[in-house]
Amino acid sequence: MKLAIINGPNLNLLGKREPEIYGSNSFEDFFKSLQKKFSDIEFTYFQSNIEGEIIDKLHEVGYGFDGIILNAAAYTHTSIGIGDAVKAIETPVVEVHISNVHSREDFRHTSYIAANAKGVVFGFGLKGYELAVESFL
Ligand code: DQA
Repeated sequence: MKLAIINGPNLNLLGKREPEIYGSNSFEDFFKSLQKKFSDIEFTYFQSNIEGEIIDKLHEVGYGFDGIILNAAAYTHTSIGIGDAVKAIETPVVEVHISNVHSREDFRHTSYIAANAKGVVFGFGLKGYELAVESFL
């Protein structure tokens, strides 16, 4: 089983960024524990602050992988390009958000990804990535 985790803009700052919303763990530390917990799964992790790089990565993993876990962060709410890429590729995508986007500002209630995602997980902190992995098992 090959799963790709793709994180969008500002998620490289996890642990330092608004810890009251996003927690105090870095994604790198969390990713190590995820790999340990699901040791049979081959994970690829990619983070970018650049919209086109996220689209390129979706194209790269979107045919050979079994699943993609995508937290496109702010691009979720703005990027028709990322939404179109999710629709175009064959690999199913689970959309993840650390925070409960529906309890926050109105602009976070829109997703250009959700309509073409296999499912959406939000509001459970980093545990949401684990739930997304489990959805592929
Ligand atoms: C986020 C929610 C987005 O609205 C925000 O722009 C992010 C992170 C989350 O994981 O909760 O950067 O995707």
